[in-house]
Amino acid sequence: MNKVVVRLVALAVAVVVIVGLVVLGRGKEPQEMRFALVPKSVGHTYWEGVRQGMEAEARQRGVKAVFQGPPEASVEQQLKIIESLITQGYDGIGISPSDSKAVEEIIGRAINKGIAVVTFDSDSKDSRRLVYIGTDNREAGRIAGRLMIDLLGAKPQAQAGDETFLVQIIGGQPGAENLNERMEGFKEAVADVNISLADDLYNEENPDKALQVAENAINAHPDLDGFFCANAFGGPGVAPAIEDAIGRGQLEPHQIRVVAFDTTPDILNYIEEGVIDCTLAQQTQRMGKLSIEHLLRFAQQYQELGRFNPPPEGEDVIDTGVAVVRPEDVPQYRPEPKEGD
Ligand code: BGC
Repeated sequence: MNKVVVRLVALAVAVVVIVGLVVLGRGKEPQEMRFALVPKSVGHTYWEGVRQGMEAEARQRGVKAVFQGPPEASVEQQLKIIESLITQGYDGIGISPSDSKAVEEIIGRAINKGIAVVTFDSDSKDSRRLVYIGTDNREAGRIAGRLMIDLLGAKPQAQAGDETFLVQIIGGQPGAENLNERMEGFKEAVADVNISLADDLYNEENPDKALQVAENAINAHPDLDGFFCANAFGGPGVAPAIEDAIGRGQLEPHQIRVVAFDTTPDILNYIEEGVIDCTLAQQTQRMGKLSIEHLLRFAQQYQELGRFNPPPEGEDVIDTGVAVVRPEDVPQYRPEPKEGD
């Protein structure tokens, strides 16, 4: 081969190698990326805000995003959905774990495969999730405890004499980190006042169970003074149970004070009717929006560095905030009427 031919072959090889490197090494564009948010369930209106926030952010960033969860909260079904998203090669997954321990292994596996994982709404602190986005649940529980103290007029033990108030806390699924933290925060806040607590009850994120545990509590404790409902199923379970007991003459109106969680339309109605005293509003749209924002950021980081670079402990929690909703605040939590309504 003469020198010219050798040079041409070398040039051709170089061009092929360079083009190959460019094509293979090219990161995915945002519009080629797919993200998924996996709530505890999709069958409850609480999650609508998260879905809307997710969709708006995905549209703005030009990424694909799906909202996939079990119809009703189920630890096993949630794991199956996450497994299938991993198999389908999603670029990032946001999870609100029904059970914080049960998801640790699968989150670790996703991260090892280069799939970004964040938690939203409820955390799994001991997992390898990159950040948690949602309410500071312990602090929200403390706020709820202080609201109950005000409603009942509870006093520090030393000034209370013989008077005590009895409060029933109702959780959701026993393995849910967010609800357990709310329950613990509430207990911390009422620890030094004349409030005693009945044994914790759980509605397991089920509306029938939510009504049943409320009725059981009212019947078991004729002297009950308050309910703290740690999830969105709690208020709509407790309120009809109280109304029925009032109808039967078993309770006086306002004899039991109620601090609820969330601002679904049924909860807002019960506040206006005066059966629920107040509730804590969570920023669900923000949770959906920020989940997509951070998943995209981490997925791009993985493409650049070949690994995730999560923030250190203490900076890995993005607090979306809560607000107290009393009867006078209800109108601002009603959806804006749409054109033609
Ligand atoms: C919680 C969710 C829960 C929902 C429905 C909300 O307060 O943040 O984790 O699934 O209530 O019960």
